[in-house]
Amino acid sequence: MLQKPKGTYDAYGEKGRQILYLENLLHSLMEKYHYEYVRTPIFESSELFHRGVGETTDIVSKETYDFIDRGDRNMTLRPEGTAGVVRSYIENKMYGNPSQPVKTWYMGPMYRYERPQSGRFREFYQFGVEVFGTDNPMMDAEVISIPVNFYRLLGLKGIKVNINTLGDTESRTAYREALLEHFHPHLDELCEDCKTRYEKNPLRILDCKVDHELECMKTAPRILDYLNETSKTHFEEVKKYLDLLEIPYQVNPNVVRGLDYYTHTVFEVEASIEGFGSQNVLCAGGRYNHLVENIGGPSTPGVGFALGMERLLSALECEHITVGEDILNLYIIPVDESQISNAFALTQELRMNGFSVDMDYMGRNVKGNFKQADRFNASFVILLGEEEVKTNILTIKDNHTQEQYQVKKDELIAFLDAHIVEEHDE
Ligand code: HAM
Repeated sequence: MLQKPKGTYDAYGEKGRQILYLENLLHSLMEKYHYEYVRTPIFESSELFHRGVGETTDIVSKETYDFIDRGDRNMTLRPEGTAGVVRSYIENKMYGNPSQPVKTWYMGPMYRYERPQSGRFREFYQFGVEVFGTDNPMMDAEVISIPVNFYRLLGLKGIKVNINTLGDTESRTAYREALLEHFHPHLDELCEDCKTRYEKNPLRILDCKVDHELECMKTAPRILDYLNETSKTHFEEVKKYLDLLEIPYQVNPNVVRGLDYYTHTVFEVEASIEGFGSQNVLCAGGRYNHLVENIGGPSTPGVGFALGMERLLSALECEHITVGEDILNLYIIPVDESQISNAFALTQELRMNGFSVDMDYMGRNVKGNFKQADRFNASFVILLGEEEVKTNILTIKDNHTQEQYQVKKDELIAFLDAHIVEEHDE
């Protein structure tokens, strides 16, 4: 039997409904924040990710899905959304838009050739935002507030916000020097990856999953001691605005992030829920003030984040939060064969009046149809017989209270409007 590729999954039934519910909620949340939707290609030239995400990152050096297209171009399935949105921002000259900052959001599949495990897929879905054109720390706080408010809306309780700063170029250079000096006598103890990181991007040593128990990791210098005044002030302001928005956070100097483009604020929101797997980072992001320039655009500050849909679904499951319930307002039952066409026509008519309606397509008898209505948890059942069609008076049964109503056909919509709204309001 043909099977799906390793590290991918099919979403259908309940999971399909949950995903749609979450996507719709995110869509309406973004309207409230007044962000613009942006959609970019799933594949881009490989060079974009080398320049954007960074050559030394695991994502680019080990995990990309690369292919050569029929025109001999090097292409890569996007491993994340930021680089593509930045490319689009530059290519479409959004920096010339008079209404700055440009605030965007996106949603879609990303691809990383990682070792699949719980919470880690090779094809996974991200929702993310990218904001261009302002280095106002208020915007860093706003971006952090988006996932926090979204998780709050869903009722998730076990979330922890970790923030850190990587400072500006000057602070980072000073810190880099300090790290090189610190790790030099310990080079032999470090894993092979960290030896490369030492040469190319020593900050990322702090992020290593293999070496994190080493004594030299615990005694490593902290970025917070190397910040210049500008960087310190920016970080203080971000914290001030987070306090203002009543977003609890912890300053965690080990949050350095696995992508090369960050400057100043970085953050991760983790699930601290019992039984949640080791892949507990629900979302992550930060500021990237040089990325637009590195990809070939004018010097433009940026800040954003992305959240993983799969890990969110696991967190909801862990906290027993159900979303995206199946809603069926009406199930139409023809009493005998002669009424099937009438039932079919009524089904379409009620759908066009805004109700969710279903009927039988399998030749079930009345008893079988009542069972089916129960399986669907339909709110109302309409019984359609010769008598009903002749008199234009319909029999409607509340499937939950078993109460029956006789309703004139031309008063049906008003009846349903009143009763179904009532039910929703309960
Ligand atoms: P990231 O930390 O690589 O950042 O990914 C963000 C989120 O995507 C993670 O926190 C996680 O929830 C989810 N995720 C990542 N890899 C996987 C995977 N293999 N399987 C399932 N979920 C995964 C970025 O991608 C940056 N572009 C975020 C950003 C936007 N920074 C600024 N703007």
